[in-house]
Amino acid sequence: MEKTIAVLPGDGIGPEVTEAAVKVLQSIAMRYGHTFHLKHALIGGSAVDAHNSPLPEETVAACEASDAILLGAVGGVKWDNHPAHLRPEKGLLNIRKHFDLFANIRPVKAVPALLGSSPLKEEVAKDVDMVIVRELTGGLYFAEPKRRSEKSAVDTLVYTRREIERIVDQAFEIARGRRGKVTSVDKANVLETSKLWREVVEERKAAYPDVEVEHMLVDSAAMKLITDPRRFDVVVTENMFGDILSDEASVITGSLGMLPSASVRTDGFGLYEPVHGSAPDIAGQNKANPSAAILSVAMMLRHSFGMHSEASAIEEAVMGVLEDGYCTGDLTTAGKRTVSTETFVTKVIEEVEREFVSE
Ligand code: NAD
Ligand code: IPM
Ligand code: MN
Repeated sequence: MEKTIAVLPGDGIGPEVTEAAVKVLQSIAMRYGHTFHLKHALIGGSAVDAHNSPLPEETVAACEASDAILLGAVGGVKWDNHPAHLRPEKGLLNIRKHFDLFANIRPVKAVPALLGSSPLKEEVAKDVDMVIVRELTGGLYFAEPKRRSEKSAVDTLVYTRREIERIVDQAFEIARGRRGKVTSVDKANVLETSKLWREVVEERKAAYPDVEVEHMLVDSAAMKLITDPRRFDVVVTENMFGDILSDEASVITGSLGMLPSASVRTDGFGLYEPVHGSAPDIAGQNKANPSAAILSVAMMLRHSFGMHSEASAIEEAVMGVLEDGYCTGDLTTAGKRTVSTETFVTKVIEEVEREFVSE
């Protein structure tokens, strides 16, 4: 197959983990006979510096001319005091909105080789396998008015019935292909948007009689994610709750550096990016865990291109390297060898080749 991918490395560790993911992508291309045309473009702080915009028109054009988008991370202290429209994060929000990528899919799966790296007890973290489905283009992040004055600040929380329906339907569909359980997380004891959310879930569930549904308040969900994470299969929630709960859930796996994500709409087009940010504290040190970015490429191959064996090959290669005892510094535990980002990627590529030869 021949595909065009827009590659947006961004800031901080974004370029390091993106380069790693692209190397793995190229090894898959070579092994499976695909051609991936890569269009590199700027986003975030690096784009602000070069073009005075966190999402330049050239970048949007490169993405429009592509079959999928691979993104690293944006942000950094250098741009923290910029006005809202010149912040790196605005580039990310705008690209999600521009392409209507309303469904952010964030799988959280315990890795057997990393159980010792999780701050949770092994018996709590083991066998966890859930997907957080986060609404991505609505809610507090986008609704107007949004403004600041000397004496006060306003953010607005709005959800339309249609916005809720489409993300809830997406969660039901995903649950159907898994263990058939949806946990809808809201704050319906306080928020009007959450009351509507709960109503919509109740309405839509009639179309999915094979799926079990439960409602959970977000504060209690934050607790249960840590005390009893195995009870979750598919978690569906609004934009900001999903942002917070997914970083929290990442600790089950041992590190935020393990979580990939797909931001999609219904036609298969998507943006693939790690859940983590630009990690300024470790940027430029060849220390970042590239797993989240590499696993995001696997999600791209499976979801946007239908390349199932190729996606599994990447996932198995990452797991294989971790099982062999190699990991980056964020995961260090007794008995493991801490390696650099580059060495970790080399090992993943060797593993892809080894799997291919043994097939
Ligand atoms: P962060 O996710 O960048 O980092 C949180 C902690 O996790 C840090 O200690 C970091 O070193 C560690 N970490 C994150 N990813 C890692 C990896 N792959 N390997 C090893 N360690 C990793 O969150 P933050 O520090 O709160 O934010 C930093 C910047 O990133 C901010 O400007 C923020 O706006 C931005 N951000 C961007 C995205 C994105 O682009 N999708 C997501 C979150 C935060
Ligand atoms: C994420 C990030 C972004 C978000 C920020 C950087 C805008 O935290 O992708 O999880 O909050 O959506
Ligand atoms: Mn986040």
